Amino acid sequence: MAGDRGEELPRWAEVAYEAIAPVYDEFTAHHNYDFWLGQLIPKLEEHGIRGHRLLDVACGTGKSFIPMLEKGWEVTACDISPAMVALAREKVGDRVRLSVADMRKLPVFGEFDLVFCLDDAVNYLLSGEELEQALIGMRRNLGPGGLLMFDVNTMEAYRNFFAEEVVLERDGRRLIWKGLTDPDAAPGTIAEASFEVVPLAGSNAPAIPAELHRERHFPEAEIRAALERAGLECLAVYGHHHDAIPKQPLDEAAHTKGVYIARAAQEA
Ligand SMILES: C[S@@+](CC[C@H](N)C(=O)[O-])C[C@H]1O[C@@H](n2cnc3c(N)ncnc32)[C@H](O)[C@@H]1O
Repeated sequence: MAGDRGEELPRWAEVAYEAIAPVYDEFTAHHNYDFWLGQLIPKLEEHGIRGHRLLDVACGTGKSFIPMLEKGWEVTACDISPAMVALAREKVGDRVRLSVADMRKLPVFGEFDLVFCLDDAVNYLLSGEELEQALIGMRRNLGPGGLLMFDVNTMEAYRNFFAEEVVLERDGRRLIWKGLTDPDAAPGTIAEASFEVVPLAGSNAPAIPAELHRERHFPEAEIRAALERAGLECLAVYGHHHDAIPKQPLDEAAHTKGVYIARAAQEA
């Protein structure tokens, strides 16, 4: 593993999120985490979740952990992008233990009842090796009986959202997501899209030059194998479309996301 040998790990994700950070919440304003987590927490309960200690890996600006904080969870969170972490800190101050950390070499922050990594952060890992290292790091942060949950984008997402252009205009600027992916891309593809902000005529809004978002598609069989190699037991796999209602089985063509729940294998 590159990171283990002290070699530099690719920095695509960090560069992309340092750039998008100032407008991230605006661009993703339609993501309803209260509803999504309201659908996912009962699935965790079906698998015996207990306790209230959460580690949010790749927490971004805090959108994924804020509903948990409001429900009384004790939250620790990290992200590779210092700009995203700074925005999360502005929202929650010292109510959350926040760090800059790369999930490919995740520190042990403690023992958690739930470790989650949400909104396709896992897809920024660009190889099976990186995925395995991240999963090992997440497993090391699980307390006794703890559960791991993460989601990944499906081929539906890469053949559509990552292949199309989305433009939002507000506050004197144009936010441009430009999908660069082949709509017929094959499973396991590395999908690309660029994101930039262009000020509209007469506006003083700052520009954000185009940066590339690179995500790797992980088929279910590859994720299950990586979980096993990382010492985790896969408990359930769900799929959902934009309605965020988890269904089984995961369908790569009908669902935009796959959601995985796992626990440390030795507890099986
Ligand atoms: C789509 S955002 C999701 C953020 C947050 N979980 C949410 O649901 O709002 C993906 C996040 O993954 C982070 N990320 C990507 N690669 C990472 C890595 N190797 N280690 C830690 N964070 C990473 C990015 O910086 C970004 O904040």
